Amino acid sequence: MSAGQNRKGPTESGTPLWVFGYGSLIYKVDFPFVECRAAKIRGWRRRFWQGSHDHRGTRDAPGRVVTLIPCKGAECHGMAYLVAPGVFDHLDVREKNGYMRFTTDLIFRDGQSATGWVYVASRENQAFLGPATEREIARHIATSAGPSGSNRDYLLRLAQALRELGDDDAHVFAVERHLRELERAGR
Ligand code: SIN
Repeated sequence: MSAGQNRKGPTESGTPLWVFGYGSLIYKVDFPFVECRAAKIRGWRRRFWQGSHDHRGTRDAPGRVVTLIPCKGAECHGMAYLVAPGVFDHLDVREKNGYMRFTTDLIFRDGQSATGWVYVASRENQAFLGPATEREIARHIATSAGPSGSNRDYLLRLAQALRELGDDDAHVFAVERHLRELERAGR
């Protein structure tokens, strides 16, 4: 994966570009696209390790949202969208809380591949929260909310979207299971 050092780079050409979504970009599609295709990227795993100050939490009480963590041999499934370059003006603002844009190889279901952009919040960003047990993450999510709605809604919509994609993401589904247990127990 190579870094999008010049975040304005893609907007200089008029050719549509691929962007890969693995979190809210799978289910909250508030941008126009030319085409969308289920895709995966290699060498990354999805984790609820990023703090959210501006969508599912606040600066004082950040929520937990997903980022990508490098992991040899792992694959992360999501949705790729072919978008006009100007769409990145919107996405760069939407993903501004710690995410940087990188290019990487996308692999589609039919085995074809393309280069696309992906937003990654690295360990170095100020909002990064890092690991916790899946139960602790669920407890955190259960009590967080921000301008885009509850953190619970983010988790459940992502889990549902992954199910619809046929993805078996053990981490996301474990956090979802713990959240449901906590809710059943009234905690
Ligand atoms: C993504 O969806 O690809 C990035 C993380 C998020 O916005 O949830």
